Amino acid sequence: MYKLSNKCGKLCEKKIYYTGDTKMEYERIKLDYNSLEDVIDDKTLDLHYNVHYKNYTQKLNELLKKENYNYNYTPIYLAKNIDIIAMENRSEILYNLGGYLNHSLYFFNLTDKKKDIPNNFIDLIKKDFSSFNSFKEDFINMALEVKGSGYTFLVIDKNNKLRIVNMTNQDTPYYYGFTPIMTIDVWEHSYYLKYYYDRREYLERVFNIIDFEKVYNLYLINQE
Ligand SMILES: [Fe+2]
Repeated sequence: MYKLSNKCGKLCEKKIYYTGDTKMEYERIKLDYNSLEDVIDDKTLDLHYNVHYKNYTQKLNELLKKENYNYNYTPIYLAKNIDIIAMENRSEILYNLGGYLNHSLYFFNLTDKKKDIPNNFIDLIKKDFSSFNSFKEDFINMALEVKGSGYTFLVIDKNNKLRIVNMTNQDTPYYYGFTPIMTIDVWEHSYYLKYYYDRREYLERVFNIIDFEKVYNLYLINQE
């Protein structure tokens, strides 16, 4: 059975998304659920959270220690200001920083509780997409277009519009001036044990366990 194993928890969630203050190693967010078995089998969730996400987090911290990095910045600030990182190690750090941030958002977005989509969020979506259903359709169609490994994101662009963008491997939208507020991981390790080649089925089902209240809150904190 899937087990949570980290000491940072809710505090870490705050350090990533809600405050600009950190003086600690970057750690994984704590999940609000023990299982999402109907949508993501326990083995996939376990391997994804306790192996893949953990490895990106550990590797990131190891690389930053080599740089004598002092954790004065949140990981999001670092991703937006990559000049802080020396050129010689930058590509490896960016790969693992992206892996850390992208997985943090993916796991942060999911919920095992049946929740309504907030009306405020639906209204917001309607400004940039014709309806919530067409947003969902566009998002899933974009995610089907990811070649190889990557993610699909809902992002805020520089003009404060919502857009759907794809990233490959562990690139993260922060590197391109976008602020992501929702993502679905479409690396095969996210779904292959349960869904095999059927990425669409995985996408349709995982979309239904996204906590849009959290997505909306991330939108709001990025308006401040
Ligand atoms: Fe992943």
